[in-house]
Amino acid sequence: MPLVSMRQLLDEAAKGGYGVGAFNVNNMEQIQAIMEAARETKSPVIIQASRGARAYSQDKFLYHLMLAAAELYPEIPLVMHLDHGNSFETCKSAIELGFTSVMMDGSLKEDGKTPATFEENVAVTKAVVDLAHKHGVTVEGEIGVLGGIEDGHGAGGTGLEHVTDPQQAVDFVAKTGVDALAIAIGTSHGAYKFSKKPDGSVLKMDVLIEIHKRLPNVHLVMHGSSSVPQDLQDIINQYGGKLKPTWGVPVEEIQLGIRNGVRKINVDTDNRLAITGAIRKVFVEQPEKFDPRDYMKPAREAMKKVVALRMAQFGQAGHAGDYKPISIEEMKKFYAGQAAAAK
Ligand code: G3H
Ligand code: 13P
Ligand code: ZN
Repeated sequence: MPLVSMRQLLDEAAKGGYGVGAFNVNNMEQIQAIMEAARETKSPVIIQASRGARAYSQDKFLYHLMLAAAELYPEIPLVMHLDHGNSFETCKSAIELGFTSVMMDGSLKEDGKTPATFEENVAVTKAVVDLAHKHGVTVEGEIGVLGGIEDGHGAGGTGLEHVTDPQQAVDFVAKTGVDALAIAIGTSHGAYKFSKKPDGSVLKMDVLIEIHKRLPNVHLVMHGSSSVPQDLQDIINQYGGKLKPTWGVPVEEIQLGIRNGVRKINVDTDNRLAITGAIRKVFVEQPEKFDPRDYMKPAREAMKKVVALRMAQFGQAGHAGDYKPISIEEMKKFYAGQAAAAK
């Protein structure tokens, strides 16, 4: 199956009332882990690469690995998505490379740290939408700012400092025409999200529900959605790691989000934890080993387990064969029709 449009994948998820995990990758083993999990659970899937991932991998490597994934797993609808594009140029280069979906994160300025104004966010996001849709490429925008910093990206803070204002979300969608909208409801990127087990009141689910009420046809995106499972933390610390006590986003909260319009759920940290724990275990238990395959295989397997579990929990499992992919050429016509109707 060729790489498919994220818009189609999320439209189908909305029809079926389920969410789709978007998993970050930097290398071949992570892509293989996701594709094996998708095959096992019969799931459509979004694979995403951040700016850091593109730099780490010389993004052409990632692109061709993704094409290999599409070729080797023809039964799996697969989206290749840019995570947290920081500028028009970053999104343009991803579109030129062949990504079928881009995120323009205009909630922060181009430095990836300073919160942008609403007007700045609208201007850059609208410019990306105009370009992307001409190419049949999906666009995710963001309104509100997440907490935490990953790889130098993020405003820091707790995640509760710039929660999305529902009316701004409505205005933002009207002014930009994004296909999907990331909102801030108190989550942060990275492992250190909450310093105690979050009860039902920590995440601003009431804000999410209000946004969904006002924008029932917009696909909502939850970033910072790793659950940071205790068992994965324990493996790392048991084998010499030094993670401080921490809690992530409970899966039940994500499932509540999915019942209220969340269609894309971003997960990176849980997979990083799984990989690191598996590698540490081999290093400690079998210190004589030095063939990278001896620790990369269990690392890949550990990530696959996490991804397959999330696919079942988000509800995408079993839906890979539900629909025929619309080609990116057809998506160009779809967006051209949408633009003509809006005039
Ligand atoms: O949004 C953050 C993702 O976890 C990607 O992280 O920028 O370190 O690749 P990264
Ligand atoms: P986590 O750090 O919670 O995995 O979030 C990942 C993310 O939002 C990528 O955009
Ligand atoms: Zn994110």
